[in-house]
Amino acid sequence: MTSSQAGGRAPLLSAEKAAEVRERFGTPCYVYDRATLEATARRALAFPAPYGFTLRYAMKANPSRGILAVFRALGLHVDASSDWEVERALRAGFAPEQILLTSQMPSRRVAEHVGRGIFLNACSLHQLEAFGRATPGRAVAVRMNPGLGSGSTKRTNTGGPSASFGIWHDYAAEVKKVAARYGLTIGTLHTHIGSGTDPEVWKRAMRMTLDLVAQFPDVAAVNLGGGFKVGRMPEEPSVDMDEVAAHVRGELEAFSQRDGRALRLEIEPGTYLVAQAGAVVATCVDVVDTGRGGYLFAKLDTGMTEVTRPSLYGAQHPIDVLATGREPAEVVFVGPCCESGDILTPAPGDPEALGPRWVLRPRVGDLVIVGGAGAYCAAMSTINYNSYPQAPEVMLEPDGALRLLRKRQSLEQMLANEV
Ligand SMILES: Cc1ncc(COP(=O)(O)O)c(C=O)c1O
Repeated sequence: MTSSQAGGRAPLLSAEKAAEVRERFGTPCYVYDRATLEATARRALAFPAPYGFTLRYAMKANPSRGILAVFRALGLHVDASSDWEVERALRAGFAPEQILLTSQMPSRRVAEHVGRGIFLNACSLHQLEAFGRATPGRAVAVRMNPGLGSGSTKRTNTGGPSASFGIWHDYAAEVKKVAARYGLTIGTLHTHIGSGTDPEVWKRAMRMTLDLVAQFPDVAAVNLGGGFKVGRMPEEPSVDMDEVAAHVRGELEAFSQRDGRALRLEIEPGTYLVAQAGAVVATCVDVVDTGRGGYLFAKLDTGMTEVTRPSLYGAQHPIDVLATGREPAEVVFVGPCCESGDILTPAPGDPEALGPRWVLRPRVGDLVIVGGAGAYCAAMSTINYNSYPQAPEVMLEPDGALRLLRKRQSLEQMLANEV
Protein backbone atom coordinates (compact mmCIF):
# COMPACT_ATOMS: atom_id res chain seq x y z
CA MET A 1 0.00 0.00 0.00
CA THR A 2 1.40 3.40 -0.96
CA SER A 3 0.41 6.72 0.44
CA SER A 4 -1.68 7.62 -2.60
CA GLN A 5 -3.54 4.32 -2.44
CA ALA A 6 -4.60 5.24 1.07
CA GLY A 7 -6.61 8.15 -0.29
CA GLY A 8 -7.69 6.20 -3.40
CA ARG A 9 -6.65 9.06 -5.66
CA ALA A 10 -3.26 10.74 -6.07
CA PRO A 11 -2.89 13.70 -3.74
CA LEU A 12 -2.77 17.17 -5.26
CA LEU A 13 0.92 17.50 -4.41
CA SER A 14 3.90 15.22 -4.65
CA ALA A 15 5.79 14.37 -1.46
CA GLU A 16 8.62 16.65 -2.64
CA LYS A 17 6.28 19.60 -3.15
CA ALA A 18 4.62 19.02 0.21
CA ALA A 19 8.05 19.04 1.84
CA GLU A 20 8.86 22.29 0.06
CA VAL A 21 5.58 23.79 1.30
CA ARG A 22 6.47 22.84 4.86
CA GLU A 23 9.96 24.20 4.61
CA ARG A 24 8.98 27.52 3.08
CA PHE A 25 5.61 28.27 4.65
CA GLY A 26 5.23 25.90 7.59
CA THR A 27 2.20 23.74 8.33
CA PRO A 28 -0.72 23.79 8.26
CA CYS A 29 -0.85 25.47 4.86
CA TYR A 30 -3.53 25.59 2.17
CA VAL A 31 -2.30 24.86 -1.33
CA TYR A 32 -4.37 25.54 -4.47
CA ASP A 33 -3.54 24.15 -7.88
CA ARG A 34 -3.94 26.65 -10.70
CA ALA A 35 -4.07 24.00 -13.45
CA THR A 36 -7.01 22.25 -11.74
CA LEU A 37 -8.82 25.56 -11.15
CA GLU A 38 -8.46 26.55 -14.79
CA ALA A 39 -9.38 23.16 -16.20
CA THR A 40 -12.52 22.95 -14.07
CA ALA A 41 -13.58 26.49 -14.94
CA ARG A 42 -13.12 25.77 -18.65
CA ARG A 43 -15.29 22.66 -18.35
CA ALA A 44 -18.03 24.67 -16.65
CA LEU A 45 -17.77 27.47 -19.23
CA ALA A 46 -18.61 24.90 -21.92
CA PHE A 47 -22.08 24.33 -20.39
CA PRO A 48 -24.27 24.09 -23.50
CA ALA A 49 -26.95 26.69 -22.82
CA PRO A 50 -29.08 27.34 -25.88
CA TYR A 51 -29.84 31.05 -25.39
CA GLY A 52 -26.84 32.58 -23.67
CA PHE A 53 -24.91 31.68 -20.56
CA THR A 54 -23.24 33.30 -17.57
CA LEU A 55 -21.01 31.33 -15.25
CA ARG A 56 -20.74 32.87 -11.82
CA TYR A 57 -18.28 31.72 -9.21
CA ALA A 58 -19.97 31.38 -5.80
CA MET A 59 -17.11 33.05 -4.00
CA LYS A 60 -18.38 31.97 -0.60
CA ALA A 61 -16.68 28.65 -1.38
CA ASN A 62 -13.28 30.34 -1.31
CA PRO A 63 -12.92 34.11 -1.51
CA SER A 64 -9.10 34.15 -1.77
CA ARG A 65 -8.02 36.93 -4.11
CA GLY A 66 -5.63 34.52 -5.81
CA ILE A 67 -8.52 32.27 -6.79
CA LEU A 68 -10.77 35.16 -7.77
CA ALA A 69 -7.99 36.38 -10.07
CA VAL A 70 -7.81 33.02 -11.85
CA PHE A 71 -11.54 33.02 -12.52
CA ARG A 72 -11.72 36.69 -13.47
CA ALA A 73 -9.07 36.12 -16.11
CA LEU A 74 -11.19 33.34 -17.60
CA GLY A 75 -14.26 35.60 -17.81
CA LEU A 76 -16.33 34.19 -14.95
CA HIS A 77 -18.73 36.44 -13.07
CA VAL A 78 -19.39 36.35 -9.34
CA ASP A 79 -22.10 35.29 -6.92
CA ALA A 80 -21.47 37.30 -3.75
CA SER A 81 -23.29 36.44 -0.53
CA SER A 82 -22.73 39.58 1.55
CA ASP A 83 -21.86 43.25 1.22
CA TRP A 84 -18.38 42.22 2.28
CA GLU A 85 -18.01 39.72 -0.51
CA VAL A 86 -19.13 42.38 -3.00
CA GLU A 87 -16.26 44.53 -1.77
CA ARG A 88 -13.75 41.69 -2.03
CA ALA A 89 -14.89 40.91 -5.57
CA LEU A 90 -14.50 44.57 -6.57
CA ARG A 91 -11.06 44.72 -5.02
CA ALA A 92 -10.12 41.57 -6.93
CA GLY A 93 -10.92 43.48 -10.11
CA PHE A 94 -14.40 42.27 -11.06
CA ALA A 95 -16.55 44.90 -12.74
CA PRO A 96 -19.70 45.80 -10.76
CA GLU A 97 -21.87 44.44 -13.60
CA GLN A 98 -20.26 41.02 -13.12
CA ILE A 99 -21.45 40.77 -9.52
CA LEU A 100 -24.80 39.43 -8.32
CA LEU A 101 -25.50 39.87 -4.61
CA THR A 102 -27.60 37.08 -3.09
CA SER A 103 -27.51 37.63 0.65
CA GLN A 104 -29.35 36.14 3.60
CA MET A 105 -28.54 39.36 5.46
CA PRO A 106 -30.42 42.30 3.96
CA SER A 107 -27.83 44.52 2.30
CA ARG A 108 -27.04 47.75 4.14
CA ARG A 109 -25.79 49.36 0.94
CA VAL A 110 -28.59 48.82 -1.59
CA ALA A 111 -28.54 52.28 -3.21
CA GLU A 112 -24.75 52.34 -3.36
CA HIS A 113 -24.55 48.90 -4.96
CA VAL A 114 -27.20 49.74 -7.54
CA GLY A 115 -25.50 53.06 -8.27
CA ARG A 116 -22.32 51.16 -9.08
CA GLY A 117 -24.08 48.65 -11.31
CA ILE A 118 -24.15 45.61 -9.03
CA PHE A 119 -27.17 43.40 -9.61
CA LEU A 120 -29.28 42.53 -6.57
CA ASN A 121 -31.20 39.36 -5.86
CA ALA A 122 -34.05 39.67 -3.34
CA CYS A 123 -34.04 36.66 -1.02
CA SER A 124 -37.18 37.66 0.90
CA LEU A 125 -40.19 39.94 0.51
CA HIS A 126 -38.58 42.22 3.09
CA GLN A 127 -35.48 42.53 0.89
CA LEU A 128 -37.60 43.18 -2.18
CA GLU A 129 -39.39 46.00 -0.35
CA ALA A 130 -36.04 47.45 0.69
CA PHE A 131 -34.76 47.34 -2.91
CA GLY A 132 -37.97 49.03 -4.09
CA ARG A 133 -37.75 51.79 -1.49
CA ALA A 134 -34.06 52.48 -2.10
CA THR A 135 -33.97 52.17 -5.89
CA PRO A 136 -37.46 52.19 -7.42
CA GLY A 137 -37.86 51.46 -11.10
CA ARG A 138 -34.86 49.13 -11.37
CA ALA A 139 -34.46 45.60 -12.68
CA VAL A 140 -33.84 43.04 -9.93
CA ALA A 141 -33.60 39.30 -9.45
CA VAL A 142 -35.68 37.30 -6.99
CA ARG A 143 -34.55 34.14 -5.28
CA MET A 144 -37.47 31.77 -4.95
CA ASN A 145 -37.70 28.59 -2.92
CA PRO A 146 -39.32 26.25 -5.45
CA GLY A 147 -40.57 23.98 -2.69
CA LEU A 148 -37.92 21.31 -3.09
CA GLY A 149 -34.44 20.91 -1.69
CA SER A 150 -31.45 18.69 -2.28
CA GLY A 151 -28.47 18.16 -0.02
CA SER A 152 -25.95 15.51 0.89
CA THR A 153 -26.84 16.39 4.48
CA LYS A 154 -29.67 18.44 5.96
CA ARG A 155 -27.12 21.20 6.51
CA THR A 156 -26.44 21.54 2.79
CA ASN A 157 -30.08 21.50 1.76
CA THR A 158 -31.25 25.00 0.88
CA GLY A 159 -34.71 24.44 -0.55
CA GLY A 160 -38.09 23.06 0.53
CA PRO A 161 -40.21 23.90 3.56
CA SER A 162 -37.40 23.54 6.11
CA ALA A 163 -35.09 26.06 4.41
CA SER A 164 -35.24 29.81 5.04
CA PHE A 165 -33.55 30.69 1.75
CA GLY A 166 -35.53 32.56 -0.87
CA ILE A 167 -39.19 33.47 -1.21
CA TRP A 168 -41.61 30.57 -0.87
CA HIS A 169 -43.04 29.70 -4.28
CA ASP A 170 -46.64 30.27 -3.24
CA TYR A 171 -45.89 33.95 -2.67
CA ALA A 172 -45.37 34.81 -6.33
CA ALA A 173 -48.42 37.10 -6.25
CA GLU A 174 -46.93 39.07 -3.34
CA VAL A 175 -43.66 39.39 -5.22
CA LYS A 176 -45.54 40.89 -8.13
CA LYS A 177 -47.42 43.27 -5.85
CA VAL A 178 -44.25 44.60 -4.25
CA ALA A 179 -42.56 44.87 -7.63
CA ALA A 180 -45.53 46.80 -9.06
CA ARG A 181 -45.60 49.13 -6.04
CA TYR A 182 -42.04 50.26 -6.73
CA GLY A 183 -41.93 49.83 -10.50
CA LEU A 184 -39.34 47.04 -10.18
CA THR A 185 -38.79 44.72 -13.12
CA ILE A 186 -38.23 41.09 -12.15
CA GLY A 187 -35.68 40.28 -14.85
CA THR A 188 -34.01 37.21 -13.33
CA LEU A 189 -35.50 34.34 -11.39
CA HIS A 190 -33.08 32.51 -9.14
CA THR A 191 -33.27 29.21 -7.28
CA HIS A 192 -30.61 27.28 -5.40
CA ILE A 193 -31.81 24.09 -3.80
CA GLY A 194 -28.64 22.66 -2.23
CA SER A 195 -25.89 20.27 -3.10
CA GLY A 196 -27.35 16.80 -3.51
CA THR A 197 -26.57 14.48 -6.40
CA ASP A 198 -29.92 12.98 -7.23
CA PRO A 199 -30.58 13.90 -10.88
CA GLU A 200 -34.31 13.35 -10.40
CA VAL A 201 -34.44 16.07 -7.74
CA TRP A 202 -32.52 18.38 -10.06
CA LYS A 203 -34.94 17.70 -12.87
CA ARG A 204 -37.98 18.37 -10.73
CA ALA A 205 -36.45 21.56 -9.34
CA MET A 206 -35.68 22.81 -12.85
CA ARG A 207 -39.25 22.19 -13.93
CA MET A 208 -40.62 23.90 -10.81
CA THR A 209 -38.31 26.85 -11.45
CA LEU A 210 -39.56 27.21 -15.01
CA ASP A 211 -43.16 26.97 -13.81
CA LEU A 212 -42.37 29.95 -11.61
CA VAL A 213 -40.72 31.81 -14.48
CA ALA A 214 -43.94 31.33 -16.46
CA GLN A 215 -45.69 33.51 -13.87
CA PHE A 216 -43.27 36.42 -14.38
CA PRO A 217 -43.53 37.83 -17.90
CA ASP A 218 -40.44 40.08 -17.65
CA VAL A 219 -38.03 37.33 -16.62
CA ALA A 220 -35.37 36.96 -19.30
CA ALA A 221 -32.79 34.99 -17.33
CA VAL A 222 -32.97 32.02 -15.03
CA ASN A 223 -30.28 31.37 -12.44
CA LEU A 224 -30.18 27.80 -11.16
CA GLY A 225 -27.67 28.48 -8.37
CA GLY A 226 -24.87 26.07 -7.60
CA GLY A 227 -24.92 22.79 -5.76
CA PHE A 228 -23.10 20.57 -8.26
CA LYS A 229 -21.84 18.03 -5.77
CA VAL A 230 -18.27 16.84 -5.93
CA GLY A 231 -17.40 13.52 -4.31
CA ARG A 232 -14.15 14.23 -2.53
CA MET A 233 -13.71 10.57 -1.64
CA PRO A 234 -13.45 8.03 -4.45
CA GLU A 235 -16.54 6.18 -3.27
CA GLU A 236 -18.66 9.34 -3.08
CA PRO A 237 -20.84 10.21 -6.08
CA SER A 238 -20.36 13.41 -8.03
CA VAL A 239 -23.07 15.12 -9.97
CA ASP A 240 -22.97 14.20 -13.65
CA MET A 241 -22.60 17.63 -15.27
CA ASP A 242 -23.24 16.31 -18.76
CA GLU A 243 -26.53 14.84 -17.63
CA VAL A 244 -27.50 18.06 -15.86
CA ALA A 245 -26.50 20.13 -18.89
CA ALA A 246 -28.46 17.96 -21.34
CA HIS A 247 -31.51 18.15 -19.15
CA VAL A 248 -31.31 21.90 -18.56
CA ARG A 249 -30.86 22.49 -22.26
CA GLY A 250 -33.90 20.36 -23.11
CA GLU A 251 -36.04 22.14 -20.51
CA LEU A 252 -35.02 25.60 -21.73
CA GLU A 253 -35.80 24.65 -25.32
CA ALA A 254 -39.17 23.19 -24.34
CA PHE A 255 -39.95 26.31 -22.31
CA SER A 256 -39.09 28.50 -25.27
CA GLN A 257 -41.49 26.55 -27.46
CA ARG A 258 -44.40 26.69 -25.06
CA ASP A 259 -43.85 30.20 -23.70
CA GLY A 260 -42.02 32.01 -26.49
CA ARG A 261 -39.16 33.16 -24.24
CA ALA A 262 -35.54 32.19 -24.92
CA LEU A 263 -34.15 32.35 -21.39
CA ARG A 264 -30.56 33.18 -20.71
CA LEU A 265 -29.05 30.70 -18.26
CA GLU A 266 -26.88 31.43 -15.25
CA ILE A 267 -25.32 28.92 -12.90
CA GLU A 268 -23.16 29.74 -9.89
CA PRO A 269 -21.14 26.78 -8.66
CA GLY A 270 -18.76 27.08 -5.75
CA THR A 271 -17.81 23.52 -4.82
CA TYR A 272 -17.62 22.28 -8.40
CA LEU A 273 -15.06 24.94 -9.33
CA VAL A 274 -12.70 24.71 -6.38
CA ALA A 275 -13.22 21.65 -4.15
CA GLN A 276 -10.68 19.38 -5.80
CA ALA A 277 -8.20 22.16 -6.48
CA GLY A 278 -7.16 22.59 -2.84
CA ALA A 279 -5.38 20.64 -0.13
CA VAL A 280 -4.01 21.31 3.32
CA VAL A 281 -0.42 20.30 3.95
CA ALA A 282 -0.11 19.30 7.59
CA THR A 283 2.21 17.57 10.01
CA CYS A 284 1.45 14.67 12.30
CA VAL A 285 2.25 16.09 15.75
CA ASP A 286 1.34 13.17 18.02
CA VAL A 287 0.11 9.58 17.94
CA VAL A 288 -1.89 8.15 20.83
CA ASP A 289 -4.14 5.17 21.36
CA THR A 290 -6.85 4.09 23.77
CA GLY A 291 -5.66 0.54 24.35
CA ARG A 292 -7.09 -2.77 23.34
CA GLY A 293 -10.46 -2.38 21.72
CA GLY A 294 -9.87 1.36 21.48
CA TYR A 295 -8.62 3.56 18.69
CA LEU A 296 -5.32 4.70 17.25
CA PHE A 297 -5.36 8.49 16.88
CA ALA A 298 -3.05 10.60 14.75
CA LYS A 299 -3.07 14.22 15.88
CA LEU A 300 -2.38 16.69 13.11
CA ASP A 301 -1.57 20.37 13.30
CA THR A 302 -4.67 20.91 11.18
CA GLY A 303 -8.27 20.17 12.07
CA MET A 304 -11.46 22.16 12.54
CA THR A 305 -9.33 25.30 12.38
CA GLU A 306 -8.68 24.77 8.64
CA VAL A 307 -11.12 22.01 7.61
CA THR A 308 -14.33 22.44 9.58
CA ARG A 309 -16.63 20.46 7.32
CA PRO A 310 -15.99 17.07 8.97
CA SER A 311 -16.89 18.42 12.43
CA LEU A 312 -19.88 20.24 11.04
CA TYR A 313 -21.42 17.73 8.64
CA GLY A 314 -19.46 14.52 9.00
CA ALA A 315 -18.00 15.46 5.60
CA GLN A 316 -15.26 13.21 4.23
CA HIS A 317 -11.89 14.42 2.96
CA PRO A 318 -9.16 12.15 1.62
CA ILE A 319 -6.13 11.98 3.91
CA ASP A 320 -2.73 10.77 2.76
CA VAL A 321 0.22 10.04 5.00
CA LEU A 322 3.35 10.77 2.97
CA ALA A 323 5.51 7.87 4.00
CA THR A 324 6.95 4.75 2.47
CA GLY A 325 7.65 1.27 3.75
CA ARG A 326 5.08 1.39 6.54
CA GLU A 327 2.41 -1.10 7.49
CA PRO A 328 -1.15 0.15 7.14
CA ALA A 329 -3.21 0.80 10.24
CA GLU A 330 -6.70 1.90 11.11
CA VAL A 331 -6.37 5.50 12.20
CA VAL A 332 -8.65 8.25 13.45
CA PHE A 333 -7.28 11.65 12.44
CA VAL A 334 -7.95 14.49 14.83
CA GLY A 335 -7.03 18.15 14.94
CA PRO A 336 -5.08 20.17 17.50
CA CYS A 337 -7.99 21.82 19.35
CA CYS A 338 -9.12 21.05 22.88
CA GLU A 339 -12.49 20.07 21.53
CA SER A 340 -13.79 16.53 21.18
CA GLY A 341 -15.50 17.53 17.94
CA ASP A 342 -12.18 18.35 16.32
CA ILE A 343 -12.18 15.20 14.21
CA LEU A 344 -11.01 15.01 10.62
CA THR A 345 -12.36 11.52 10.09
CA PRO A 346 -15.86 11.28 11.53
CA ALA A 347 -18.19 8.60 10.23
CA PRO A 348 -19.71 9.71 6.90
CA GLY A 349 -22.54 12.14 7.57
CA ASP A 350 -22.25 11.73 11.34
CA PRO A 351 -19.92 14.19 13.07
CA GLU A 352 -20.58 12.47 16.41
CA ALA A 353 -19.12 9.11 15.41
CA LEU A 354 -15.56 8.11 14.51
CA GLY A 355 -14.69 6.89 11.04
CA PRO A 356 -11.20 5.35 11.19
CA ARG A 357 -9.27 5.13 7.91
CA TRP A 358 -6.85 2.51 6.60
CA VAL A 359 -3.67 4.46 5.93
CA LEU A 360 0.06 4.02 6.30
CA ARG A 361 0.69 4.02 10.04
CA PRO A 362 1.57 7.66 10.83
CA ARG A 363 4.51 8.77 12.95
CA VAL A 364 5.24 12.08 14.59
CA GLY A 365 6.75 14.43 12.04
CA ASP A 366 5.13 12.82 8.98
CA LEU A 367 3.74 15.06 6.31
CA VAL A 368 0.02 14.52 5.81
CA ILE A 369 -2.17 15.88 3.04
CA VAL A 370 -5.86 16.58 3.58
CA GLY A 371 -7.42 16.69 0.13
CA GLY A 372 -10.60 18.15 -1.35
CA ALA A 373 -9.93 21.31 0.65
CA GLY A 374 -10.49 24.02 -1.96
CA ALA A 375 -14.13 24.74 -1.09
CA TYR A 376 -15.60 25.79 2.26
CA CYS A 377 -12.33 25.14 4.12
CA ALA A 378 -10.31 28.37 4.27
CA ALA A 379 -13.66 30.14 3.82
CA MET A 380 -15.36 28.41 6.76
CA SER A 381 -12.46 27.93 9.16
CA THR A 382 -12.89 28.43 12.89
CA ILE A 383 -10.18 31.06 12.84
CA ASN A 384 -8.25 31.54 16.08
CA TYR A 385 -9.98 28.86 18.14
CA ASN A 386 -7.40 27.92 20.78
CA SER A 387 -5.59 30.98 19.39
CA TYR A 388 -4.11 29.12 16.45
CA PRO A 389 -3.27 31.64 13.73
CA GLN A 390 -5.06 31.66 10.38
CA ALA A 391 -3.12 29.38 8.02
CA PRO A 392 -1.36 30.69 4.92
CA GLU A 393 -2.56 30.06 1.37
CA VAL A 394 -0.25 29.17 -1.50
CA MET A 395 -0.83 28.73 -5.23
CA LEU A 396 0.89 25.85 -7.00
CA GLU A 397 1.64 27.18 -10.47
CA PRO A 398 1.71 24.88 -13.52
CA ASP A 399 5.53 25.15 -13.66
CA GLY A 400 5.76 23.83 -10.11
CA ALA A 401 6.44 27.21 -8.49
CA LEU A 402 4.78 27.86 -5.12
CA ARG A 403 3.44 31.40 -4.83
CA LEU A 404 2.32 32.78 -1.47
CA LEU A 405 -1.21 34.21 -1.65
CA ARG A 406 -1.74 34.95 2.04
CA LYS A 407 0.75 34.88 4.88
CA ARG A 408 0.22 33.07 8.13
CA GLN A 409 -1.50 35.37 10.62
CA SER A 410 0.76 36.81 13.30
CA LEU A 411 -0.04 37.10 17.00
CA GLU A 412 -0.10 40.88 16.57
CA GLN A 413 -2.76 40.56 13.85
CA MET A 414 -4.79 38.26 16.06
CA LEU A 415 -4.76 40.85 18.83
CA ALA A 416 -4.93 43.95 16.65
CA ASN A 417 -8.54 44.88 17.41
CA GLU A 418 -8.36 44.40 21.15
CA VAL A 419 -8.57 47.80 22.83
C1 LIG B 1 -27.17 31.14 -3.59
C2 LIG B 1 -26.07 30.18 -3.71
N1 LIG B 1 -25.47 30.00 -4.89
C3 LIG B 1 -24.45 29.15 -5.05
C4 LIG B 1 -23.97 28.42 -3.98
C5 LIG B 1 -22.82 27.49 -4.22
O1 LIG B 1 -23.13 26.19 -3.88
P1 LIG B 1 -22.08 25.03 -4.18
O2 LIG B 1 -20.82 25.42 -3.53
O3 LIG B 1 -22.70 23.81 -3.60
O4 LIG B 1 -21.96 24.97 -5.68
C6 LIG B 1 -24.56 28.55 -2.72
C7 LIG B 1 -24.07 27.78 -1.57
O5 LIG B 1 -24.50 27.83 -0.48
C8 LIG B 1 -25.64 29.46 -2.58
O6 LIG B 1 -26.23 29.65 -1.40
